[in-house]
Amino acid sequence: MSWAEVYPWEPPAAPVVRGVYGQVREAILSGALAPGARLPSSRDLAARLGVARASVVSAYEQLLAEGYAVGRPGSGTYVRADLSGVLDAPAAPTPAVAPAPGLPERAVRLAATPVPPPRPGERTFNTGRTLMDARAQAAWSRSARRAVRSLSAGDFGYADPAGDLALREAIAAYLRAARGVRCEADQVIVTTGAQHAQDIVARVLLSPGDAVWAEDPGYPASLRILEAVGAQITPVPVDADGLVVSEGRRLAPEARAAFVTPSHQYPLGMALSMARRLELLAWAREARAWVVEDDYASEFRYDGPPLTALQGLDGGQRVIYVGTLNKALFPGLRLGYLVAPSALVEPFRQARRMMDRQAPTLTQAMVLDFMQSGEFAAHIRRRRVAYGAQRDVLVRALTERLGHRVEVAQPDQGLHLVAYLKDGLGDQEAEALADANNVTVQAISRLYRGAAPRQGLLLGFSGFPVRAMAPGVARLARAIG
Ligand SMILES: Cc1ncc(COP(=O)(O)O)c(C=O)c1O
Repeated sequence: MSWAEVYPWEPPAAPVVRGVYGQVREAILSGALAPGARLPSSRDLAARLGVARASVVSAYEQLLAEGYAVGRPGSGTYVRADLSGVLDAPAAPTPAVAPAPGLPERAVRLAATPVPPPRPGERTFNTGRTLMDARAQAAWSRSARRAVRSLSAGDFGYADPAGDLALREAIAAYLRAARGVRCEADQVIVTTGAQHAQDIVARVLLSPGDAVWAEDPGYPASLRILEAVGAQITPVPVDADGLVVSEGRRLAPEARAAFVTPSHQYPLGMALSMARRLELLAWAREARAWVVEDDYASEFRYDGPPLTALQGLDGGQRVIYVGTLNKALFPGLRLGYLVAPSALVEPFRQARRMMDRQAPTLTQAMVLDFMQSGEFAAHIRRRRVAYGAQRDVLVRALTERLGHRVEVAQPDQGLHLVAYLKDGLGDQEAEALADANNVTVQAISRLYRGAAPRQGLLLGFSGFPVRAMAPGVARLARAIG
């Protein structure tokens, strides 16, 4: 692959051979044409520069003689792959740029946002990973091929920012059946994920200084969204029944919104009890506040029937329902959705249009095919069994190898679990020890706004097959056992 086709060649000044030579040499020395790149044929370059072909041939001969280019008989002329003989020693790396003075306050705040340390994706027990088995991969390839074939010329332009109507119908039907969400297709807005959906909601509904309830501990990326719009975050504690609504009422009765994870509190995993659900909705109605329900891992429930969504209980009045296909399928997919009360559909659709126009047409068509062919439902069923088994094996291995060190809270839903630390070891210390032993765990104390009442480790189990659990736990035991 060569970018010489798009290089802005200019008609050379006289003498012509010198001008052509200088221009190609400059393109090579500046790195615009990379080592190994194919140079245009002499006929092509001559036509583009409006010079005689013989001039380009002479210029190329000089570049060949000086070692800038190599000729491959029958193939053409290429930038030499190893230019070390003709280039000067590499320049010293440019020093890191200090923040420019006078940056807007918001830019400074964003630049200073804590970024989680990079975690090698394939290491047990990283979170944010899913497994696609061979059947799902084959079905996904078929859906991709059919989706490409299904697109006609009309699909290559801009489309509805709210998403493809057929996909929105499929999502609405799925949510009514699986989650008890009360919605029609025209309330669904397709996003790139739960994160994007919450960003749209925050930008449209919140003004700087607005008070917002956020679960404590909570999902850091949601907090970052709230910080970015300048919301006044009120951390509300959670107990065994989930968000302590009475505390929210006491701390910020007039809050504009509550961001919650009712079916599987992130990160601790409890469900919001029915009494608390009713209490939360009663407050939202009284305060005319919005409840943003992040139902990020609802597909994966292992014991007993799933809890229906808070949105269904409310009848879609004050609750904005947020869901994602990035957990049901794979995080790199980048497709999710929100379900809005009717009055909010248009503002959300306009906000989505301003942000990035629309979700990609092709990805939407692929997911629609995957759903309509029945593969989505079948995949969820198989994943539920597989992830449930992965959870069980991990819980057993942790209890057997590390029972003296940790107390495992077995989650009945979701893609991760929390192992609480016994006898005084700090979770951030444990996280570092584990990291040095090639195993990834996350300290839950980092997910609290204030001091954490208990130290614990978050372990993802969805991304690793059963056979990976014991070796992962053995490495963790070497680190903290
Ligand atoms: C609680 C919670 N909400 C939202 C998300 C983001 O999901 P998405 O990848 O669809 O943006 C995650 C991802 O880990 C999550 O854990």
